Amino acid sequence: MSYVEDVSPGSGALPPRAWYAASDAKALSLNGSWRFRLSATADAEDESFAAPGHDAGDWAEVVVPGHWVLQGHGSPIYTNHLYPFPVDPPRVPTENPTGDHLRVFDLPEDWPALTEGGAVLRFDGVESCARVWLNGTDIGEFKGSRLPHEFAVGHLLKTVGNVLAVRVHQWSAGSYLEDQDQWWLPGIFRDVTLLHRPAGSALDFFVRASYDHVTGEGTLCVDSDVDGRVTVPALDIDVATGEAVTVPVEPWSAETPRLYDGELVTEGERIPLRIGFRTVSLEDGLIKVNGTAVLFKGVNRHEWHPVRGRALDLETMREDVLLMKRHNINAVRTSHYPPHPAFLGLCDEYGLWVIDECDLETHGFVEQDWRDNPVDDDRWTPALLDRAARMVERDKNHPSVVIWSLGNEAGTGRGLTAMAEWIRGRDTSRLVHYEGDLDCRDTDMYSRMYAFHDEVERIGRGLDGGTAKRRRLPFVLCEYGHAMGNGPGGLADYQRLFESHERLQGGFVWEWIDHGIEDGRYAYAYGGDFGEELHDGNFVCDGLLFPDRTPSPGLVEFKKVIEPVRIEGDGADGTVRVTNAHDFADLSALAFTWSYQVDGETVETGPLSVPPLAPGESADVKLPRPPVDGRGAETSWTVRALLAADTAWAARGHPVAWGQFAAAARPRPAVVPTAAPVAGERLITLGPASFDARTGTPTSIGGVAVEGLRLDVWRAPTDNDDGAEWQADTRYGVLWRDLGLHRMRHRLDAIELGDDSLTVRTRVAPAAREVGLATVYRWTSDGSRLRLTVSVAPEGNWTLPLPRLGIRFGLAGADRVTWFGGGPGEAYPDSRAASTVCRWQSTVDDLQTPYVRPQENGARADVRWAELGGLRIEGDPEFWFSARRWTNEQLDAARHRTDLVPGPTVWVNLDHGQHGIGSQSCGPGPLPRYFLHAGPAEFSFVFAETG
Ligand code: GAL
Repeated sequence: MSYVEDVSPGSGALPPRAWYAASDAKALSLNGSWRFRLSATADAEDESFAAPGHDAGDWAEVVVPGHWVLQGHGSPIYTNHLYPFPVDPPRVPTENPTGDHLRVFDLPEDWPALTEGGAVLRFDGVESCARVWLNGTDIGEFKGSRLPHEFAVGHLLKTVGNVLAVRVHQWSAGSYLEDQDQWWLPGIFRDVTLLHRPAGSALDFFVRASYDHVTGEGTLCVDSDVDGRVTVPALDIDVATGEAVTVPVEPWSAETPRLYDGELVTEGERIPLRIGFRTVSLEDGLIKVNGTAVLFKGVNRHEWHPVRGRALDLETMREDVLLMKRHNINAVRTSHYPPHPAFLGLCDEYGLWVIDECDLETHGFVEQDWRDNPVDDDRWTPALLDRAARMVERDKNHPSVVIWSLGNEAGTGRGLTAMAEWIRGRDTSRLVHYEGDLDCRDTDMYSRMYAFHDEVERIGRGLDGGTAKRRRLPFVLCEYGHAMGNGPGGLADYQRLFESHERLQGGFVWEWIDHGIEDGRYAYAYGGDFGEELHDGNFVCDGLLFPDRTPSPGLVEFKKVIEPVRIEGDGADGTVRVTNAHDFADLSALAFTWSYQVDGETVETGPLSVPPLAPGESADVKLPRPPVDGRGAETSWTVRALLAADTAWAARGHPVAWGQFAAAARPRPAVVPTAAPVAGERLITLGPASFDARTGTPTSIGGVAVEGLRLDVWRAPTDNDDGAEWQADTRYGVLWRDLGLHRMRHRLDAIELGDDSLTVRTRVAPAAREVGLATVYRWTSDGSRLRLTVSVAPEGNWTLPLPRLGIRFGLAGADRVTWFGGGPGEAYPDSRAASTVCRWQSTVDDLQTPYVRPQENGARADVRWAELGGLRIEGDPEFWFSARRWTNEQLDAARHRTDLVPGPTVWVNLDHGQHGIGSQSCGPGPLPRYFLHAGPAEFSFVFAETG
C-alpha cells in the first residue's frame, strides 16, 4: 500500500513546534505562481517531474496558496457528512485527482552562505496528502491538511535553481479524518516558506504567562529547547529561558487584550513575542479566566473566501476579526480545524476567546453505526496524536486560545482519549473540549450542539442528569442558532437562558460565513452546482455573513442580542436602567446618548451621564425632560452606548448597545365612514377607490392602479421552515406545501353594498382539502381615505400554523419606500431584537435580503405606516411590510439569486402575522409563542394617495 493509503501521518517531517510569523532569521516566501499538472490517479505520472531539469514548459500554472479546483482544474465537491467515496478505510478510490506542483527558486542575495546554519521548508496547509522533493531528493510525505509540516532542507539547497516539487493527492487515508461539513478542496492552500535556521536558532519554545487575580501579578516562564534570554522591556523583565519571574501586570482578556511585547533571544535568533498574562481554570464547576467566569458570545468560524476558498490572506482574516469585534462577538471556535496561524495572532491582538479545534472529523462513519471508526482503532492513534501535537505545539503561545478541542463529530473512542491525555500532559494551562463525549470522560465541559431551549434550561438548572462528572461541569453550546438562510430565530431566548443560569457559559452560533462560491451562472454556487453525484445543496450556506462578508440580518440580530450593556427603560417615568454585562471591563470606554422621537423622527439628542459601572453592576439613570411637547403624537426615547474613543477595532462613535422605549403610545388611525358605495356597470366606486364589480377587488385608489389585492398566507419557505430531514413532524415548509398553502383558491361568495361600506365575502382554501379561511373584506371611506378591514375565520381542522396572514397586491412603478416602523433591516417574530422603530427610507430593491438560496425575506416589523408607489398605507394595528419585484411564488421557485428577474409590478405584502423563524434547518423550530396559529383574526389598513 502506498503512503497515500497508509494510516500513518507521514514521514520525514521535523517534530512540531511553535509557529511564529517572523524573527530576525531570513525567510523566503515560496507563495506565488507554480507550475501545475493534474492527473486523474495518484500514479498516472511517474516521479521524474521532481528531478531538476524536468521541462514543465507545457504545464498550467496555479497560484499557491490556492486550491486547483477553484483555478479551473476539476471541480469542488460539497458534502455535509457523507464521504464522497466508498467507505473502506484506509483505502481511497483509484480516481484520485493528483496535482503535481513545481517551483524553481533562487536564494535571495542577502540569504546567508549555505554553510551558515540550516534551513527549514514549512508547509502551513496542504489538502489532503503531499509528497515533497527538493532538488530531486525525496524529503518526505505528510497528511493533516490544516496543520503545519516542516522539513530540514539546508543540506539540499543551492544558491540558484532550486527545484521544489510537491505531489498533492486529493484523497488519502487522511481524508477519513477530515470529513468536516464543507467543500472538499485539494491543493497547497496555505503558505509555503523557506526559513533560514542560523546556528543556535530557536527550536520549540513555550511561553507560559499566567495571572494571579488575587495579587495582580503575572508569572512568566519561557521554556525553550535552545537556551536563551527573555526580555519584556515594559515589565523590566530580562531572564534566562526556563526561569520564572513574577511581576505586577495588567492581565489579558478578550475584553481587555493587553499584550506585552517581548523577545526571545537565542545565540542565533531573535524572536518577537507578544505576551498576554492570563490563567484559565475550571473552578466551582465554571470556566474561569483570571478568576472570573466567562460568558461565550461566540461563532463557529470556518475559513472561507468566495473566490479563494480556504486560502485566506491576512487582510481577510483581519476583516473577520474586525467584523466580530464590531458585532459584540467575544469568542470563536475554529470549526473544525486549526485556522491559519496568523488568525490567532489577530485574536490575541484584538481580543477574542478561542476554542482551537483539531483537524479531525469522521462523521461519515455514522452511516454504518460508527463501525471501523478510526478514532476507535489503535492503528490510527499515531495519526490522531500527531494531529493533536501539531495543533498544540503550533498554537500554544497564543493567550487567546483558552480551550483545546479534540475535533468534531468523530464519535467516541480510545483515540480521542489518547489525544486528551497527550494534550493534558503537554499543556496544563488550558481546558479540553469535545462535543461527542456526552459523559465528559475526556473533557472539562459539557458541550452540545443545537439543544432546544427547554433542554438548555434544564441543564442550566442542573436537572439534566448524566454522569456524576458531567453534572459538576459547566455547559457550552458549541453550536446553536443555525444561521442558514433567513434566521436564526430564537437567539434572544437562548441568551436570556445563558444570562439566567451560571452553569450555562454561552455558545457559538453556527456559523460565521456562507461558503458560497462566486460563480457567474448563479451569483454564488452551492452543493450540486458542480454536478456532484452526492451533495448537500445549500447546507453549506449557513453563515451570519454572506459569502462576500456582507453581514446578514442574522448577524445584526446577534449583535443586539449579545450586547455587553443592557439598556432598559421606562419612557413614561423617564428612567433608564443601564447594566454592565461585560465579564471584565467597566463602562469607561463608552459614551451614552439619549434621543427623543416624535412620530419616529428624532427631534433632539444629548449626552447621558452613566457611571463607569463595574461588570455586573446596574444603575438607574434619569432621562432629561422631554425636549418638546409631543402631545397627540407617538413618542419614544432611544439610549445608545457608543465607543467614547477610537479603538483598534472601531472608531469613536461606533454603536455598541442601545435600548428604545415608548413614552406616549401611538394614536390609532380613524376613518369615519361617510362615503357610500356606488355601483356602475363594471365598477363600484367608494370614496377614492374603484372596484371591479364582478370580483369586488380594488382596481385603483385615487390615481394609483392596484392589482390582485387578496388574502395571502404563503411565504417562500425559508431553510428553517423546511427544516432538517430528521425532523419530519415539524418541517412546516414541507407540511405547508403538502397542505397546499402555496396554491390557495379564492372563491367569491358575495359582494354587498351597504350604506357606507362595501363588503366582499370569500372563502380561501386549497384544492383537495376541507380546511379553508372564510375571509371578509370590508371597505369604508371618508371620501379621501379608504379603510380595509379583513376578517378571517378558519374552517375545518387546522393542524398547522400559517406561514403568514395578511394581504398582498401589486403596484406599478413603485421604487422609493418610506416607512415608520421597525428597521432598518428585516425582522421576524423571533428575530426582531435589532429592529429599531423610527422613520426609514429605502428602495424596493434594497428591501430585499439576498439569501444565497432565495427564500422569504425582507419583512419590516411594527410598521405604523408605509409610503410607496403613490400610496400611503397605515396599519391598525401595526403590520409587517414587504415589497418586491417578483411574487412570493417566483421567490419560492428560485434556486439562486440569478433566478430572480424583476418584473414591472411591485408586489406588496401587508401582514398581520408571520410565523416565527427558528433554526430548524439544524435545531429547534420557533418556540410556541412565535407560532402563527390559524385562528380568527381581524386587522385593518387605511389607504390614501400621497399626492
Ligand atoms: C453540526 C456540525 C457542523 C455542521 C452543522 C450543520 O452537526 O458540527 O459541522 O455540519 O452541524 O450545518
